[in-house]
Amino acid sequence: MSRTARVGVLVSGRGSNLQALLDAAADPWYPADIAVVVSNVPGAYALERAAAAGVAAHTVDHRGKPRADFERELIATLGEVDFVCLAGFMRVLTPTFLDAFPERVLNIHPALLPAFPGTHGAAQALAAGVTQAGATCHLVDAGVDTGPILAQGSVPVLAGDTEAALAARILAVEHRLYPLCLRWMAEGRVVVTNRRASVQLQTGESRWITGA
Ligand code: GAR
Repeated sequence: MSRTARVGVLVSGRGSNLQALLDAAADPWYPADIAVVVSNVPGAYALERAAAAGVAAHTVDHRGKPRADFERELIATLGEVDFVCLAGFMRVLTPTFLDAFPERVLNIHPALLPAFPGTHGAAQALAAGVTQAGATCHLVDAGVDTGPILAQGSVPVLAGDTEAALAARILAVEHRLYPLCLRWMAEGRVVVTNRRASVQLQTGESRWITGA
């Protein structure tokens, strides 16, 4: 894609991943612009981050309406965007939404998928007793955290870790992964075949990063 890609970001909460994308997009050489942010939770702090960055911020409350109506409202509110990034967006999306953006919806998840899908990735990792935890950036399909993987990052699980401590270590990796993967998508360097992504990597790039 030669022009700058227009990106919509869906959020539900504090929006630290949104902030990582906003910060990346502030670089004039970054190939994507954050054009619009939509929260399903009224008053989410992520909306303040969007406003502070001068990005249009909207709320589409999911409560009190059928899921399909909610998703159609999201599509209308996003408008003309090339990609949609889910950044702590805590609703499962159905084909009503996904078919409007085929292979163009990204998600960041706090676990090394396919392990520990759903919520509370750090808590699930601690409960399972794994020694490595991490984050995954992937394309979204109609399953829960099942879409083609773009990149992953790992962090160690340390003795005495609490859920909060491990989640914070994972979050730092999320903030590195998400701008990287959105860049690849915006530059048209990702191909999906048989539900697996391949990425045309440049020198020094990797689909696997490690954190402290
Ligand atoms: C992040 O850890 C993100 O990976 C997770 O919610 C957090 C949102 O934080 N998402 C999921 O668990 C989705 N299944 P943020 O609002 O600060 O970006």
